[in-house]
Amino acid sequence: MPRFAFINKKYIDFKQAKIHVEDRGLQFADSVYEVIVILNNNFIDLKFHLQRLRYSLNQLDIKFKFNDNLLKKIFINLINKNKTTNGIIYLQVTRGIQYREHKYNKNLSPTLIIYTRNKKFNLPGKNFAGVNTITYEDLRWKRRDIKTVNLLPNVIAANKAKKMKAYEAILIQNGKVTEGTSSNIWIIKKNNLMTHPANTDILKGVTRTSLLNIIKKTSLNLIEKSFTHKQLLNADEVFLTSSGSFITPIIKIDNKKINNGKIGNITLKLAEMYSKSCING
Ligand code: PDD
Repeated sequence: MPRFAFINKKYIDFKQAKIHVEDRGLQFADSVYEVIVILNNNFIDLKFHLQRLRYSLNQLDIKFKFNDNLLKKIFINLINKNKTTNGIIYLQVTRGIQYREHKYNKNLSPTLIIYTRNKKFNLPGKNFAGVNTITYEDLRWKRRDIKTVNLLPNVIAANKAKKMKAYEAILIQNGKVTEGTSSNIWIIKKNNLMTHPANTDILKGVTRTSLLNIIKKTSLNLIEKSFTHKQLLNADEVFLTSSGSFITPIIKIDNKKINNGKIGNITLKLAEMYSKSCING
């Protein structure tokens, strides 16, 4: 368990960290979040995470202004206090506290929650693993580009995956793949690499954005276009991306093995390129 959390303006004992019962984050999921990886004491893709945090806050009109350097200082203090060499930073901003009513007051003080947790990562190397997945109906709202804690459909699908001993659920909407419950999904067919376009139907993943830059250095043909459930199952290789999962090969979907249940060569190459870029900064 982490020892410290940062709540509003203070570092406090993690066990004593508490939120008001009328915090709108609790009552309405009126709240946004980010999950940032720390690998060997370095932040991964921090700039993109803070850009997306600003975007989510703006989209929901949550008036939380922050300075990147000050936030970074808080992160570093927490990493040191909690001894998080490898793990994640969890950051959440809620609209604040108000008597319970759907309509919010303009001048609420947002609640800021930050803590770190240790985590082991699945990186290329001798223990690099492919994962099993299931498909599940995408039951979510229409603004998935905003990183809110409104995650109940994701939780339901993820727990269905857990029940089936799978790592992730791939969400399907009208016969097409959107993304995973907490990841973006990619398929490879011959030299083509396909992923859902970054519109309001998916979260524009930070790992996705970084990988797009890496792909430019390869001869792969990138297609940002939605693909069908059938294309998913018939792909040569499939993988997912997220902060925390980096690039993780998918070797089984429902009962269908992908690439004979083995990690594909292109996936492995991309995973190596991405993890190298994380380690070298
Ligand atoms: N989830 N899509 C969804 C729905 C997500 O929740 C996430 C991340 C991603 C990948 O985004 P990124 O590459 O920026 O992590 C895609 C985080 C890790 C979580 O909720 O724990």
